[in-house]
Amino acid sequence: MSLFRAAIAELVPYEPGKPVEEVQRELGLDRVVKLASNEGPFPPFPAALEAIERAARDLNRYPDGGVYALRAALAERHGVRLEEVVVAGGADGVIDLLSQATLDPGDEIVCGWPSFPSYVLDALKLGGVPVKVPLRDHTYDLDALLAAITPRTKLVYLCHPNNPTGTANGRSEVLAFLDQLPEHVLCVLDQAYFEYIDVPDYPDGIEEAFKAGKRVVVLRTFSKIYGLAGLRCGYGIAPADVVTATSKVRRAFDVTSEAQAAAAASLGDPDELARRRALNAAGRERLVEILREHGLDPVPSLGNFVYVEVGGGRDLFQRLLREGVIVRPLDGFGAPDAVRVSVGTPEENEFFAAALGRVLVSETA
Ligand SMILES: Cc1ncc(COP(=O)(O)O)c(C=O)c1O
Repeated sequence: MSLFRAAIAELVPYEPGKPVEEVQRELGLDRVVKLASNEGPFPPFPAALEAIERAARDLNRYPDGGVYALRAALAERHGVRLEEVVVAGGADGVIDLLSQATLDPGDEIVCGWPSFPSYVLDALKLGGVPVKVPLRDHTYDLDALLAAITPRTKLVYLCHPNNPTGTANGRSEVLAFLDQLPEHVLCVLDQAYFEYIDVPDYPDGIEEAFKAGKRVVVLRTFSKIYGLAGLRCGYGIAPADVVTATSKVRRAFDVTSEAQAAAAASLGDPDELARRRALNAAGRERLVEILREHGLDPVPSLGNFVYVEVGGGRDLFQRLLREGVIVRPLDGFGAPDAVRVSVGTPEENEFFAAALGRVLVSETA
């Protein structure tokens, strides 16, 4: 009999990329730019940095295990009840809690594919069965998702916009999809990139679905536009019974004091949010232009990243790495032919342009 659970036998340990400093040293590079993890390229908001400094002085104390102040601030911000807010170590932490709270061995989750791997991995860890529905035109195929639901389905994920392709379904399509879901299924509408959205035909899941009475969990995060990826803080707006269930499986004190304080302090700066949204849109356009200049055909994206099929994603990743740029090869996301490039600062985007130019010229030489 194995010491380890059967459900994890086939899983592969998460392979973190090498630290930037290590890549730089190994390859003898002057500079390395990381455009691999869809982090925001800008630091935390000034008010968040101050809050972190203040919180640091009290680090001899455990954090508030109920995350009261931050949940209250989020409840007020979104016009929902405190009991409808779950905060965890990143949106990823919320996905973990939802999986733990809902999935028995053999239970199914449904998601599009390629998409965010945690939906699949968190189900597998629990002996759940991921049902991966192929994208249509790089976009979630909502009819096919509905058709994949069985009596064993517990969770249906809508990654919106989808990581890694950057696409989203329109408002009426999403709302009609939610209306058609059977009652035994909980939809997780993952809006990790919500603050970057600058098109009108995109539903605000909290306002238009949750507050309209649909049974849905809407995910958001402080890791992207707010620049707090390293602190790990994300949240879900969810029916109160779902929040209660996640409270039963969470570890005590799982969100650090600094994360709670920094996240709450980040909520009051709409101007900075708008500035970053505009910079992201310009940077994303520039990445598309750079890729097109090389005859590539990136998929139009709503997020802070661009997906492009290059016919051998890992190969291009390796070549760019030698030029000091880290992009994301997508084998783990189910797209081995593609890479995903995160939007950097304007200057980082130009560094990528020069590196890509060198790589693709040497390829044709
Ligand atoms: C679609 C999606 N959901 C959730 C996450 C997790 O974000 P975090 O755990 O940093 O909040 C990411 C991160 O890349 C993502 O792309």
